[in-house]
Amino acid sequence: MKVLFLGDVVGRSGVEVVKDNLQKIQKDFQIDFTIVNGENSADGFGITEGICKEFYSYGVDVITTGNHLWDQKEINEYIDKDDHLLKPFNFAEGSPGIGFNKYTLNDGKIIAVINIMGNLFMRSCDNAFFKIEQVLSELNEEDLSFIFVDFHAEATSEKMAMGHHLDGRVTAVVGTHTHVPTADATILKNGTAYQTDVGMCGDYDSVIGTKKEEFVRKFATQDTERKRIPPASGPGTLCGVIIESQSQNLLAKSITPIKIGGKIGN
Ligand SMILES: [Fe+2]
Ligand SMILES: [Fe+2]
Repeated sequence: MKVLFLGDVVGRSGVEVVKDNLQKIQKDFQIDFTIVNGENSADGFGITEGICKEFYSYGVDVITTGNHLWDQKEINEYIDKDDHLLKPFNFAEGSPGIGFNKYTLNDGKIIAVINIMGNLFMRSCDNAFFKIEQVLSELNEEDLSFIFVDFHAEATSEKMAMGHHLDGRVTAVVGTHTHVPTADATILKNGTAYQTDVGMCGDYDSVIGTKKEEFVRKFATQDTERKRIPPASGPGTLCGVIIESQSQNLLAKSITPIKIGGKIGN
């Protein structure tokens, strides 16, 4: 099974670059299933029902999220109506939404998608390493052809530790949240595909997708006021990763980062 995962979509630039490129990528790489992290798609802060529907109309199968999930109030009501929209599983018990789910493809193969959030330098949530065990014990591996984990976390150490913790037990552990792609996509020793951060889909002439002038001023003036900085609105770059699983088991055959359009690196 070939799965495409796109990193945090930031604002309109991010949504547009997904819209403009997704179907071509799906066709060129013969993608079976597409997952997008949408936590910043509503003007940088959260996601709305309308944007979820927009993503589905472009060909997205599942949307993962992170610490910004609740930024748009309407999502509290909507999330329980949409089992293709995931919250981090280790958010407070009793909060709406689900943190993992199984999806059946047309050929009958089943993929499990898990969304979980880190604990270092993040808003408080239950221990990710404990909670992931709960998810894995609830999944019946024998049914599955692919287990994908979006680990939404800040610290590279915590992300690498999660990769090794799950190595050999899931198909892929891919990091989100920092909005900066890392150059470490690999298949770990026991067969799990891993990348510390897939990067964002958004305008990279920015500071992590938001207006660079305002972010620079904030640091340069030691401004500690918590204020929302709007997203940058230039052309977006799409950052993602394609992971193919083995046909005979759950382990990864290949992991290939992709980067399309806009301004980032070469
Ligand atoms: Fe994000
Ligand atoms: Fe985040």
